[in-house]
Amino acid sequence: MSLSFENLIAAKQLLDTDIHTLIDRSNHYYENTPSSSLKGKILASLFFEPSTRTRFSFESAMYRLGGHVISLEQGSSSSIKKGESLSDMGKIISAYADIAVVRHHQPGSVTQFAKESTIPIINAGDGNNEHPTQSLVDIFTIYKEKERINNLTIGIMGDLKHSRTVHSLITLLQRYSNTFHFISHEDLRLPESIKTTLKAHNCSFHEHQSPENILHTLDILYVTRIQKERFSESEQHSNHKHTYILKKEDFKDAENTTIMHPLPRVNEIEPSVDTLSNAKYFKQAEYGLYVRMALLELMLKK
Ligand code: CP
Repeated sequence: MSLSFENLIAAKQLLDTDIHTLIDRSNHYYENTPSSSLKGKILASLFFEPSTRTRFSFESAMYRLGGHVISLEQGSSSSIKKGESLSDMGKIISAYADIAVVRHHQPGSVTQFAKESTIPIINAGDGNNEHPTQSLVDIFTIYKEKERINNLTIGIMGDLKHSRTVHSLITLLQRYSNTFHFISHEDLRLPESIKTTLKAHNCSFHEHQSPENILHTLDILYVTRIQKERFSESEQHSNHKHTYILKKEDFKDAENTTIMHPLPRVNEIEPSVDTLSNAKYFKQAEYGLYVRMALLELMLKK
């Protein structure tokens, strides 16, 4: 079992063989008690932006595999605050850790960090650009719930313009003959560049303003929050009252629609939905641990 890449910066780097290797190994850790396969290894966990799931699942994964963690919770406590470049920081951290996971608000920042580093670097989210490890968590969740990742009808709803998890997930799912329904306010539609890649993959996709008439047709509904922190100044000033709030009753004819969300949830899914057996977003967050165990182990064993 091995992976094709040294650093994981973008979802497009993941070959089909990588995805299947990671699904198998994640499932292994879902079903088995972890070994101490990373004993003595050190993870640098560098978060310049807030995180709960990504940071803690990576750190927990490292500890569960017998390794250690050094961490940065906010950029202001590092020498980046004094003007040090991300590429210099990547070079320095290479002497102190065996692998690093980096989240930063600027698109392209993790590529800069990896430029001079000599250890594997994992992108844990760079602005509105990519979040490739979340897309692996999402793929693993789909596999666990549907026993396949192909030939599915998938609804993706919310802020499709700014959501990096959506951008990375589509990069992977468009390879597997899936049909897409994109549900958003017209101001928050999927970027044209992503629609172009969908067309290049001969993917069928449709755009909607509301999920009401299509929920029962979906195998998966993937919901994201409105990413207000990524709005431009002009977007900040517009009147964005366009979150469709999903209620339990919306799913009365859609009990086979697996409901996913990368979380955090704000108000787009009412808490009453949590009691449905097809609401899988908390399970999805748990799967993140097993996926990140698999990823750390395989990237460090390369
Ligand atoms: N899904 C996700 O990236 O969550 P956090 O922002 O809590 O890491």
